Amino acid sequence: MNSKAIRFHATGGPEVLKLETVEVGEPGPGQVRVRHTRIAVNFIDIYFRTGRYPAPLPNGLGSDAVGIVEAVGPDVSFLAEGDRVGYMFGPLGAYSERRVMPAEVLIKLPDGISDDTASTIIMKGLTAQYLFRQVYPLQGGETILYHAAAGGVGLIACQWAKALGVTMIGTVSSDEKAEAALAAGCTHVINYRRENFVEKVLELTGGKGVPVVYDSVGKDTLAGSLDCLQKRGTLVSNGTSSGPVVIDTMQLAAKGSLWVTRPAMVDYALPRPNMLKMADELFDLVLAGKIVSTPRQKFALADAAEAHIALESRATIGATVLVP
Ligand SMILES: NC(=O)c1ccc[n+]([C@@H]2O[C@H](COP(=O)([O-])OP(=O)(O)OC[C@H]3O[C@@H](n4cnc5c(N)ncnc54)[C@H](OP(=O)(O)O)[C@@H]3O)[C@@H](O)[C@H]2O)c1
Repeated sequence: MNSKAIRFHATGGPEVLKLETVEVGEPGPGQVRVRHTRIAVNFIDIYFRTGRYPAPLPNGLGSDAVGIVEAVGPDVSFLAEGDRVGYMFGPLGAYSERRVMPAEVLIKLPDGISDDTASTIIMKGLTAQYLFRQVYPLQGGETILYHAAAGGVGLIACQWAKALGVTMIGTVSSDEKAEAALAAGCTHVINYRRENFVEKVLELTGGKGVPVVYDSVGKDTLAGSLDCLQKRGTLVSNGTSSGPVVIDTMQLAAKGSLWVTRPAMVDYALPRPNMLKMADELFDLVLAGKIVSTPRQKFALADAAEAHIALESRATIGATVLVP
């Protein structure tokens, strides 16, 4: 059976992404074949495409999609043909019409969650789950700083913070993004293109600063993020959209015995029972209407390069998906 798939033979700009036809076989033991209905675009896909994260080449791209199980391998008992599933782990190659996947990474989707919604919440929503509920567990009542609050993870984080009773200060780069973050439940928004976010955070917190900063922007915000923290506060450095960061540990002492963690999903979501528990919590919030999420940008699978250009140039709000 054939599938169209986006592949890259060299690292580089969006132009390295090529639409090719690949052969997809029958699932072996422990595997199922999934026909994708929606494919999520995540910033990590850009790290792989550019070579910031190494991958053997040539390769497929993408690690987050939803679809329908269309064939089940011999010893897979917990999935059946016709099941709706989503995933965020497994080999690169989600940018495709169909593929064979290890069954153990698949999450069954509840009936009340559409494929459109599911494609925006598997990786992004589970990221918000582990950042807010595991990495630096929020109790409610805190004031936090969250960078790129109108991004794919960001718009879910705004809603999750609101559901937890957390005061969220979010940064964004445009008025349109500010509106989107506020509409999603972010309490205060700072346009960090126009305003000095450190001054603004100190003003909003009466000079105290915040106990935690979730910083996925990296290079451009790191120094300021440290300056927004209270004594013994925590920097969660969970991404590097503007470039990688280097942290001088002496600075952590000088700025008030700060903590820094650079978390990776794999260390919180695995083994599988953890991932399923995280997904249950996320799905419950979505089914209760506390998190509402649909794709803000949709591209055809063949136009994956355009989706990357939009995400990389900060032109997107919320989630971006590819339709195979
Ligand atoms: N550690 C983990 O397990 C994990 C898991 C998932 C995602 N992440 C990270 O979380 C972040 C969000 O992922 P996402 O897929 O939802 O992306 P996204 O937030 O939708 O897109 C990235 C956003 O970062 C901001 N940004 C600031 N400087 C930028 C620059 N120089 N270039 C590009 N963007 C810049 C932009 O928002 P403004 O225009 O408002 O500045 C942009 O929209 C990424 O850094 C990703 O790597 C980490």
